[in-house]
Amino acid sequence: MKKEEFIKYGYQLVDWIADYLEKVENYPVKSPVKPGEIKSQLPSSPPLHPESMDRIMEDFEKIIVPGLTHWQHPGWFAYFPSNNSPASILGELLSAGLGTQGMVWQTSPAATELEEVVMDWLRQMIGLPEGFAGVIQDTASTATLCALLAAREKATGQAVNENGFSGVLRVYASREAHSSVEKGVKIAGFGKKNLVYIPVDDEFAMIPGELEKAIEADLKAGYRPACVVATVGTTSSGAVDPLKPIGEICRKYDLWLHVDAAYAGTAAILPEKRWALEGAEQADSLVFNPHKWMLTNFDCSAFFVREPQLLTRTFEIHPEYLKTGVDAVVKNFRDWGIQLGRRFRALKLWFVIRDYGVEGIKKIIRKHIHLAELFRDELQQDKRFEIMAPVYFSLVCFRLNDSRSEEQLNALNQRLLEAINDTGRVFLTHTTLNGKYTLRLVVGQRTTEERHVRQALEIIKNKADELLKSV
Ligand SMILES: Cc1ncc(COP(=O)(O)O)c(C=O)c1O
Repeated sequence: MKKEEFIKYGYQLVDWIADYLEKVENYPVKSPVKPGEIKSQLPSSPPLHPESMDRIMEDFEKIIVPGLTHWQHPGWFAYFPSNNSPASILGELLSAGLGTQGMVWQTSPAATELEEVVMDWLRQMIGLPEGFAGVIQDTASTATLCALLAAREKATGQAVNENGFSGVLRVYASREAHSSVEKGVKIAGFGKKNLVYIPVDDEFAMIPGELEKAIEADLKAGYRPACVVATVGTTSSGAVDPLKPIGEICRKYDLWLHVDAAYAGTAAILPEKRWALEGAEQADSLVFNPHKWMLTNFDCSAFFVREPQLLTRTFEIHPEYLKTGVDAVVKNFRDWGIQLGRRFRALKLWFVIRDYGVEGIKKIIRKHIHLAELFRDELQQDKRFEIMAPVYFSLVCFRLNDSRSEEQLNALNQRLLEAINDTGRVFLTHTTLNGKYTLRLVVGQRTTEERHVRQALEIIKNKADELLKSV
């Protein structure tokens, strides 16, 4: 592609993205295509000869766009958000344009040093004490795996890295912890059966006394406790494990404490939500995702560690071809995680924080929390609905409950969710809480306003009317 063409299509694409973001509300939130429908329209072998950008864009609009589920839709209330912003998109574009790869300091000093600086900005924003050092990972799943690996090495004095596994190490998490903890435990070689699920209280938060009981029982049985993963903002209900008592138990038994605040960590930039991370200063590591709720497009996961040398000792490698003359005085982020090559993600984060300012980001997070509370309050007025968990952030868990059997209620609520999503105007997902099929509504899109939440309320109530009439 010639420079003139690059400029022409570059402008065209930026125009396309700007229009898309402005009009995304006109699409059905969730793609209505059937499995295989997109693949069947694509050639099964690659083109031998160059094709024009016009043709490529044409196919993009015709084939790809109908197969998109629109995460930036203001009617997106599903899973957790993965929001973006114009500043973030520009930072990402620049990062692709530079094509820089920041595996070690000298492969782009600015990539490493900007990452150090923006991660320290984030540290201050969520109120972690000085001393915690940050690194950007692709996802919270990777960050949690890194924490588990570092915990494993700390518990065994680097023996597993050196000799492979021997003996049984135990990991503890609440039964509401995200599936990435189980995945990490399996990959890191602990073995799934050595992940001990700790009971939760009525609000779905880990019970510290039960954690201590489990550790004591394991010690008696000859197991070696190694790590606790506490969650701030669980995926199912937004529950908050109490970090202070959990941290004290971890100190008492010398266990690694990893905090998974993937979604709710962003809320800690608000003074009124800082309580959720109270006790995080005792953690050994913490992760939260700017790519979920902080306007920074996927992927960008902020991983902090209290003693970076415990992390780097787990991951460091020193092949001749990667050595540089400044290794003793710089950070080489290749030693802070699994991958060697690293994208320049700090750029988009830098753009976002500067474009909004901390106060600008707070305003949006506050708006989302306010809208979630409004949804809860309005839904509560309708006695057919039941709120299933406390609303601490921007996630509301609810179900229709007309006092039929639990089994029938589960089926009814599943049908309700399908009917809501079939409208194409909103997209919600579900979970189960204590075995009860529960709908989740999460407010987190940059452009979601009160009218979108009111529209969701109207759709939910109308579909409930229709459903209850028909059964
Ligand atoms: C609490 C929690 N932890 C971890 C994850 C995994 O996030 P990621 O996709 O960044 O790996 C999620 C995803 O929603 C989550 O809710």
